[in-house]
Amino acid sequence: MKKKRSMWGGRFTEPTDAFVEAFTASVEFDQRLALVDILGSLAHAKMLHKIGILSDDELEAIDKGMAKIKQEITDGGFDWSPGLEDVHMNIESRLTELIGEAGKKLHTARSRNDQVATDIRLYLRDEIGHCLVQIRDLQKGLLDIAEQEADTIMPGFTHLQVAQPITFGHHMLAWFEMLDRDHSRFKDCARRMNVMPLGAAALAGTSYQLDRDYTAELLAFDAPSRNSLDAVSDRDFAIEFCANAAICMTHLSRMAEELVIWSTTQFNFIQLPDRYCTGSSIMPQKKNPDVPELVRGKTGRVIGHLVSLLTLMKSQPLAYNKDNQEDKEPLFDVLDTLGACLRAFSDMVPNLSVNREAMYAAAKQGYATATDLADYLVNKGLPFRDAHEVVGGAVAYAIQKGKDLSEFTLQEMHAFDRRIEADVFDILSLEGSVAAREVFGGTAPKQVRRQIADCRKLIKQS
Ligand code: ARG
Repeated sequence: MKKKRSMWGGRFTEPTDAFVEAFTASVEFDQRLALVDILGSLAHAKMLHKIGILSDDELEAIDKGMAKIKQEITDGGFDWSPGLEDVHMNIESRLTELIGEAGKKLHTARSRNDQVATDIRLYLRDEIGHCLVQIRDLQKGLLDIAEQEADTIMPGFTHLQVAQPITFGHHMLAWFEMLDRDHSRFKDCARRMNVMPLGAAALAGTSYQLDRDYTAELLAFDAPSRNSLDAVSDRDFAIEFCANAAICMTHLSRMAEELVIWSTTQFNFIQLPDRYCTGSSIMPQKKNPDVPELVRGKTGRVIGHLVSLLTLMKSQPLAYNKDNQEDKEPLFDVLDTLGACLRAFSDMVPNLSVNREAMYAAAKQGYATATDLADYLVNKGLPFRDAHEVVGGAVAYAIQKGKDLSEFTLQEMHAFDRRIEADVFDILSLEGSVAAREVFGGTAPKQVRRQIADCRKLIKQS
């Protein structure tokens, strides 16, 4: 890398200390913004031309120079110089090298402060678009398994203790809902973010009569920002994105945890695709759920980045402060991490193999239909609290005898309550229990199929 002269050296009497140069440089990581930086510059130049600051020839030279720079960057041949601090000055300096005087005019009525605030928004806007597609992909996969497993009975848990029988399809739809809220949060944050800082300049706006609406339109922003101080300084949009990502990762971590538990020998509810697992170097029998474990682990990292961005922003006085240069690495890492986790899940989850027998057998244990027996007694006229008491006694007795409730004879049942009749056996069955929960949002297969149809419509709409 050759040494290049800094672009703000005019008022200085000695060169920047080499350590300080390295310490303050961001080009190593912010070069990721290069293409949106060029996009923003081209729109700015076009607007400067429209208001008469750039001539036809100058605009043409800038367009051509930028096209060449873009090519150099995408080919990997661009010479990034830490001496030029950041992505903005590297590109501008190369432009001037290529086209001379016109290159020096590009920065008229602009500061790196409004430039970087614009770049991050442009960049994040695209990235959010990808996240939205990835979330929808995963949701579609969930609907497919939910459909396949709408009748598959498993134990539902509270406190990780068997609670009531549910259907596996219903469980998958719960995951779908979490992701659906994530989707709407990302969409919402993209909308709030889509405001253009260009024209705010360093902090106070600019004395040139810019056509900010025109630049905003060229860059597909909804509007130019209303307050220049705010526009160059706040990174709340990045924080908001990371908060949404942290919530989404938290959801993925919950799914990951269930996948880990379900794939143990003890549960044996599912098998993860082999290509998503690894073995042990010492224990030949092992198939470890590394991918869900890593997703669970990476959640901590994303939450950490959120906290670091909040801490970065906290107490910053208006307007721009160099602290904000530290926004990029956490943000980029959140994008990479979330993207990778969503990608892994979208392929892994629809390809789980489901062990229906093990789920069924597990639902049979733990008196999962005790609530059904209580509801049965309520239908026979017993107040719910009394029914709860009676069934509690029945369960205690069943545990003592080592039997399931459904294994008692009608005569034995009469010891619990005289009102119990032969029809009790239907409701004590797992199938009867889930089928009874047909309330909107409930676990009955019929209801699950209805929810799947609604969800399919919903994701088609947005
Ligand atoms: N690299 C800087 C950043 O990421 C660009 C803005 C620098 N502005 C300044 N006045 N030093 O925030």
